[in-house]
Amino acid sequence: MGKLDKLGAVVTGAGEGIGEAIAKEIASNGAKVACIDFNEESGNSTAKSINESGGEAVFIKTDISDPNQVKSMISDSLGFLGSIDILVNNAAKFIFGAVEDVSQDQWEDILKVNVIGYSTCVKEALPHLKKSGKSAVVNLASVSSIIAGPKFVPYNTSKGAVLMLTRSLAVDLAEFGIRVNAVCPGSIHTSATFKHIEHMGTDVEKTLKEFQESSLLRRQGKPEEIAKAVLFLASHEDSSFITGENIIVDGGLTYN
Ligand SMILES: NC(=O)c1ccc[n+]([C@@H]2O[C@H](COP(=O)([O-])OP(=O)(O)OC[C@H]3O[C@@H](n4cnc5c(N)ncnc54)[C@H](O)[C@@H]3O)[C@@H](O)[C@H]2O)c1
Repeated sequence: MGKLDKLGAVVTGAGEGIGEAIAKEIASNGAKVACIDFNEESGNSTAKSINESGGEAVFIKTDISDPNQVKSMISDSLGFLGSIDILVNNAAKFIFGAVEDVSQDQWEDILKVNVIGYSTCVKEALPHLKKSGKSAVVNLASVSSIIAGPKFVPYNTSKGAVLMLTRSLAVDLAEFGIRVNAVCPGSIHTSATFKHIEHMGTDVEKTLKEFQESSLLRRQGKPEEIAKAVLFLASHEDSSFITGENIIVDGGLTYN
């Protein structure tokens, strides 16, 4: 018996990186998973890999910044899953820069995905989450929600908002038995690592070494290490009395 048996989970940004690891971890613990991404090739590949390993998954192509697409994604997810008990808001846009570098369009783009997109997914899933009795929302925030790295204004701001969205939703949804928590990853080795380095314009090997040395454990984290924390918060069995909380998984990057 898996700890998520008979549950249905929606995971956004499941095509690669942390979202892919989360979708696989949740599926290997017994839940059916709707893998959501706007990238058809990678999203399909995650669902295929879960199905080939004996799990049950479907890919539903969706841009979470479009409320109409989110509405039909939730309806299609319900059709496949039978119930929506778990929602993992993980998809994200990465726009970096100092305040004078960022255009109005870039601000709107990042908030539409990282903040409003998360809220829209909760809003559309809400009638189904209310029926579950074991429902959990897990939002991917970041150490950037807590510490302000230089020239990271839009991304830091959006991730700061994810933490307050998490707490606000926890307050309002507790009466329906819906727990809402966040995970704050530190530096995790995914394609986002390379988007960050490209923005900095620094030497790749040297910067990777700096990322590794910035944590107490002297390495970057793996997507699977974030997926374990998400599984804990998604599982009613493991975290039934935890809501409005955030777990920092950063190898000690923010220890002080
Ligand atoms: N990698 C890190 O070091 C790190 C650190 C802290 C927090 N995080 C957070 O973890 C989460 C995952 O990050 P990652 O490193 O795996 O990123 P990634 O870029 O590797 O993967 C993101 C996935 O989201 C999808 N996506 C992006 N915009 C979308 C949209 N509008 N609609 C649907 N799908 C969309 C992409 O296609 C991709 O599959 C993000 O919320 C990120 O902010 C990552």
